[in-house]
Amino acid sequence: MYASLKSIASYIPPTCISNTDFEKVLETSDEWITKRTGIKTRYFAQSHQQTSDLAYEAGKLAMERANVKPQDIDAVIVATLSPDYLTMPNTACITAFKLGIENKPAFDISAACSGFIYLLCLAKSFIESGTFRQILIIGAEKLSSVLDFSDRSTCVLFGDGAGACVIGSTEDKNAAILDVHLGANGRYQDFLCTPRTHTSFGQEIEIARSCVQMKGNEIFKLAVKTLVADVDEILKANALQPQDVSFFIPHQANLRIINAVGENLNFSKEQIIISVQKYGNTSAASIPMAMNDLYMQKQLKYGDLMLLDAFGGGLTWGSALVYFGGK
Ligand code: COA
Repeated sequence: MYASLKSIASYIPPTCISNTDFEKVLETSDEWITKRTGIKTRYFAQSHQQTSDLAYEAGKLAMERANVKPQDIDAVIVATLSPDYLTMPNTACITAFKLGIENKPAFDISAACSGFIYLLCLAKSFIESGTFRQILIIGAEKLSSVLDFSDRSTCVLFGDGAGACVIGSTEDKNAAILDVHLGANGRYQDFLCTPRTHTSFGQEIEIARSCVQMKGNEIFKLAVKTLVADVDEILKANALQPQDVSFFIPHQANLRIINAVGENLNFSKEQIIISVQKYGNTSAASIPMAMNDLYMQKQLKYGDLMLLDAFGGGLTWGSALVYFGGK
């Protein structure tokens, strides 16, 4: 019995913000953003929409596409760095409740932009060990709620959105989550972080901002190196070549990173899936959102082999080989 990705769905929030919109409020230009990142637009949630609302929309569609009812889901796991609440309740609890899934385990994981790969690893283990029969996994972000909109070096890079999958089981190895590799190193914790206020006994509370801070140049170099090594490792471990893969779906942070990784690994243009120009970096939602675009363009068929690769704050990273097991 193998774990299998039965459906893919995403939710894109309604407000489209172009680079030109940023030109009106920041000292920046469409030319600078396009040249350095490839990003042209990103979507932001409305102020009343929380991360769980975005997760709900993607999760509902993923359940419909897998033909699964709320009572058939055994657990809900959400990956996010922009939860509804600071520490509790977790966003998965709120999302599950909105979906009509009650009295089932629901929890969040924190692995920043690698969150979706971490979700796949957990789901694969839970299904193959027999702990759960069907799991809803969701990468969801309202990054607009943790951005400093006066910092041009970060705020133009990110977007909001959610992507969800139902993970079930199969006896067909060609519809299985074949392999997942994960890594992390806290040595680089300050390369990409959201500092928070810490209270302590006897001290007045200082209200500090808790927005995304990034060392862009440092993270760029490490991202390319790590992503390439990661792909190399998982392909070798499974005796596969780049040409054996139907689609290479990397984390969508920056077009220059994607192109550098793709060229280094000799993937063809047709194999590399790119959606960063439309959505910006949506962190844990970026890979399932890109995967859903592929699905909506009717390019993704049962048995297609996807190679997923992500890198993010922590630092965390991970790659996965996944046969599409949906219809
Ligand atoms: N518009 C215009 N100018 C900007 C700008 C913006 N939005 N953001 C920064 N700049 C300026 C800087 O202030 C700097 O000006 P200075 O030379 O006068 O000091 C200049 O552009 C160059 O800045 P630098 O940070 O060296 O640019 P860069 O070529 O490294 O590009 C990033 C910056 C963020 C696009 C790039 O480092 C990057 O993509 N890093 C990876 C980020 C990422 O993907 N993170 C997520 C990983 S999950």
